[in-house]
Amino acid sequence: MIILGIETSCDETSAAIIKDGKQILSNSIATSADMHAQTGGIIPEQAARQQVVSIIPVIKEALQKANTEEKQIDKIAVTAGPGLIGSLLVGVETAKTLSFVWKKPIIPVNHLAAHIYANWLEQEPPSFPCLALVVSGGHTDLVLMKNHGEFEWIGGTRDDAAGEAFDKTARLLGLPYPGGPAISQKAEKHLRGGKEQLSLFPRPMIDEENFDWSFSGLKTAVQREVKENGKTDVERLCAEVQEAIVDVLLTKTLRAVKKLKPKSLLLAGGVAANKRLKEKFEKKIEDVDFRVPPPRLCTDNATYIAACAFFNQKGASWENVAANPNLEITGEA
Ligand code: KG4
Ligand code: ZN
Repeated sequence: MIILGIETSCDETSAAIIKDGKQILSNSIATSADMHAQTGGIIPEQAARQQVVSIIPVIKEALQKANTEEKQIDKIAVTAGPGLIGSLLVGVETAKTLSFVWKKPIIPVNHLAAHIYANWLEQEPPSFPCLALVVSGGHTDLVLMKNHGEFEWIGGTRDDAAGEAFDKTARLLGLPYPGGPAISQKAEKHLRGGKEQLSLFPRPMIDEENFDWSFSGLKTAVQREVKENGKTDVERLCAEVQEAIVDVLLTKTLRAVKKLKPKSLLLAGGVAANKRLKEKFEKKIEDVDFRVPPPRLCTDNATYIAACAFFNQKGASWENVAANPNLEITGEA
């Protein structure tokens, strides 16, 4: 089965052609990130306008690269939410129009659930039950996935998301948006220098017996540090920020693995592209099949939207599909 996936939840416009939920025939991505780098963060109106400009060329490119014609497409999958409403609407309305014109079924997809499906692409499928840590720019959720589309929410952030913590602290340190890759690159340079203890910033809630996180205090701590001691060694501060975020994600997730005993542990979302996070998990993990998608499939793109749709084929008539910026990851996806 050939699925055309469409993703426009934030500042990436992406279309992908996926065979049988696993094989990537093409993946086209346009991004307005450079535009947002100039303003230090996303301006939703600008992101949505750029989606309008990019959506048709990106879909055309995806079809072309996959050497696929419209008549070979079986279904159309589209991110329905969560995300920025203006951006979501561009993808959803385009998918609905194609569904109507091409007479193909449409499958609305939850973007958060879909991130997890990057772990089904180009590899043998992980075994259920899976524990999944979804860490993105807007969300930090720990979910137990008992089967395709069956999610039990275990815990999450009480304030900022992990990606948001990277983005906001990067800004305080004078680094460009998106903050995660910028912080990670600087931290890498510092880490190459030796095995210095990294414990400058607090690890909130790390000892609490729940599976929740809090990241908003990190901003304040970085702000205070910069005010008191300046930005003399940005690489060290980046390594400290990264370590604080990675440590709490790792500790709480490992505790959940111990308690819930899943067969596999899956990382997903943009922050899962973080090298240090992957390495620290790999060092600590025991008795569970641990998966992290390659970095290019962690950040927003349409491949996993189509993969998620393949395994959860609850198609809808185009009239009944609507963007929902507040979708969560609970119950059935
Ligand atoms: O999943 P994603 O592409 O978009 C959302 O659904 O939000 O995640 C974007 C987030 C941003 O906050 C970005 O800073 C973060 O992922 N990110 C990273 C890395 N690459 C992207 N964070 C840490 N390390 C990275 N290498
Ligand atoms: Zn995302």
